[in-house]
Amino acid sequence: MTATGTLRNTSTNTLRDVLTRLEKERAGLGHFNVSDQVLLKAVVAAVAETKLPVVIGGSEGEREFFGVRQLAALVKSEREESDLPIFLNADHTHSLAKAIEAAKAGFDAVTIDFSALPFEENVARTKETVEAIRAINPAILAEGEIGDIGTGSEIKETAQGGKLTTPEEARQFVEATGIDNLAPAVGNMHGMLKSMVQGKAKKHLDLERISQIKQAAGVFLTLHGGSGTDDEHFRKAIAAGINIIHINTELRVAWRESLDKSLARDSIEVVPYKILRPVVDSVKQVVSSRLRLFQRQTVRRDAVESAIA
Ligand code: G3H
Ligand code: ZN
Repeated sequence: MTATGTLRNTSTNTLRDVLTRLEKERAGLGHFNVSDQVLLKAVVAAVAETKLPVVIGGSEGEREFFGVRQLAALVKSEREESDLPIFLNADHTHSLAKAIEAAKAGFDAVTIDFSALPFEENVARTKETVEAIRAINPAILAEGEIGDIGTGSEIKETAQGGKLTTPEEARQFVEATGIDNLAPAVGNMHGMLKSMVQGKAKKHLDLERISQIKQAAGVFLTLHGGSGTDDEHFRKAIAAGINIIHINTELRVAWRESLDKSLARDSIEVVPYKILRPVVDSVKQVVSSRLRLFQRQTVRRDAVESAIA
């Protein structure tokens, strides 16, 4: 018997298949951003260790640094060699041209992000982009965003984010754009406060709002800004209807801290793979622990009402 969320042989399973199966199991799918091959190796190592499916994300900035086609080629090669369920998302894509570029490069999903625009304009540009990327790959997963959860997977001085997404906005947006999954504002925020990095504070989500949005939208839901979220809130958010969880800053913090330590260990060490090996390992531990948390079925959706009361 396989563990919950465990899946092999990606050649016969699309990202949509995986999400449908995980939803039935009340499990979440981890999405982890990568800027370079050290982070990519860490995520792949975590998938090999846990045998759990994963989405690798590259934002516009991360894709620019990595190379769009280069990132797609590396992920494809990892997937083929290991036969593990590794998917690729063009995260926070702010233009039609960049979405088309990612779809043509073979990305499995695009996070179409016009959330900074007024609602009607967001609808129009998201719809146009959904149609364009589906014309390139009918199986591609198109995500749309509404609401303000701040920008940047960085360490921040003050909290960001604006008003929460309403269930009615979610319903209208999904209906008008035809997206496959929606990223709402439900108390989440991109990045971490210093107190969160120190483990003194946690993000808390509006679980009741997630339930209401799930009911109104009727599509997969993505939680952005996952870093620093309280573990119990993650579990309850999945039970309330969240399907994909984005984590980035936690990986960047582990990358930076372990790189500092590795460099400090020996001031005359100049062999990159000796310096970077412990960095891969530290980031892998963060990814593995989040993946295991997201697949734990400790809260059933029908129990969530009492959980959020
Ligand atoms: O799209 C990326 C994520 O939403 C990451 O957010 O840096 O707060 O984990 P985070
Ligand atoms: Zn995000």
